[in-house]
Amino acid sequence: MNVLLIGSGGREHALAWKIAASPMLTRLFAAPGNPGIAAEAECVPLSMDDHEAIAAFCRDKSIDLVVVGPEAPLVAGLGDRLREAGIRVFGGSAAAARLEGSKGFTKDLCARYGIPTAAYGRFSDAAAAKAYVREHGAPIVVKADGLAAGKGVAVAMTLDEALSAIDACFEGSFGAAGAEVVVEEFLEGEEASFFCLCDGTTALPFGSAQDHKRVGDGDTGPNTGGMGAYSPAPVMTPAMVERTMKEIVEPTMRGMAEMGCPFSGVLFAGLMISEAGPKLIEYNVRFGDPECQVLMMRLKDDILVLMQAAADGQLAHMSVRWRDEVALTVVMAAKGYPGTPDRGSVIRGIDAAAAEGVEIFHAGTALNDGQLVANGGRVLNVTATGRSVAEAQRKAYAAVARIDWPEGFCRRDIGWRAVAREKAGA
Ligand SMILES: Nc1ncnc2c1ncn2[C@@H]1O[C@H](COP(=O)(O)OP(=O)(O)O)[C@@H](O)[C@H]1O
Ligand SMILES: [Mg+2]
Repeated sequence: MNVLLIGSGGREHALAWKIAASPMLTRLFAAPGNPGIAAEAECVPLSMDDHEAIAAFCRDKSIDLVVVGPEAPLVAGLGDRLREAGIRVFGGSAAAARLEGSKGFTKDLCARYGIPTAAYGRFSDAAAAKAYVREHGAPIVVKADGLAAGKGVAVAMTLDEALSAIDACFEGSFGAAGAEVVVEEFLEGEEASFFCLCDGTTALPFGSAQDHKRVGDGDTGPNTGGMGAYSPAPVMTPAMVERTMKEIVEPTMRGMAEMGCPFSGVLFAGLMISEAGPKLIEYNVRFGDPECQVLMMRLKDDILVLMQAAADGQLAHMSVRWRDEVALTVVMAAKGYPGTPDRGSVIRGIDAAAAEGVEIFHAGTALNDGQLVANGGRVLNVTATGRSVAEAQRKAYAAVARIDWPEGFCRRDIGWRAVAREKAGA
């Protein structure tokens, strides 16, 4: 099987690593890839936005399956374009990608199908949104409707914060993504990420994770794309998974099919596990980054078999097996992140670090005269497995210590809640 993987982050390196381990694979290409992915795949300089060039490449190289990593090309219709050309895709249609591309769309779906989520209002002007906020009071949550790279949500603890967040949206802070706003009830509980592989009809549970969004230790400081993650999420017990499937995922699959946009690919449910049970915070239509890295480390089965079944509508016949271990990943970022960090600093010691028995997935890296350099905010994902979160954490940080990169930093406490829980339970 010839496979083309779309993307260039740590998530895609983990996917490339797992796809490359499949006995079904003949050739793996990645567009555009990165220096880490280049160890597993042939990188090709195709732009994710150039759907015609991607379709032409697929015909030229007899690609049997395209795996789309990030959301933007799905929302922009890459899946539709390729399927039109008769090319098999792991990743949904643009109509189905509205689950991530429009928060208002997902909230309306929840309302229509009785899916537990925060109470909400949808607004296209500031005055109406502010009136709703004044009526409901703080704490309250203000969200830009569209894709805002993880920056479009304000969890407002005061009325003033909520009102300024509404102004920011309608004044264009998030461009077109903020032309509509969702205001919703503040939910309390513990967050978890839950994943399913979907084929339009069937959703197959595909593991859970928890991530650390804040840049600083103790979950402090500004939000980032994610500074680390571990899998599984201890709150996602078998009973909680069953409730989530029945109350959230299955009605979503049914609703999307009824609305004429059956969902396929990865359904990533951001959940709040409240006292009343699981509530949907949001959907994403792709793997999380860095959650994908920890899932791939734990997956026993052949990912290509599963992705092919998802693309062919055959998931009802599949099951998923996981290694009986925990996985944990530490993100190493360039100093200055999540602001604009400097590029080009040299990274040494990757091989010594890998010798600690971890996988090091590349995100924003580049090669400069044969030397590995930083080329983005989040740069490396040091990923370890262990019998406990504490053990995986120890292994990951032992490897981090061997990486010689003075211009980089990482959080020192990834997994802290789970480690504390393990200690309390021991
Ligand atoms: N209704 C809510 N109640 C409490 N916290 C929320 C709520 N909605 C979102 N959040 C917090 O804000 C974060 C980002 O919101 P989310 O809807 O996941 O948007 P995005 O990931 O697109 O930025 C969530 O991970 C959660 O921590
Ligand atoms: Mg989110």
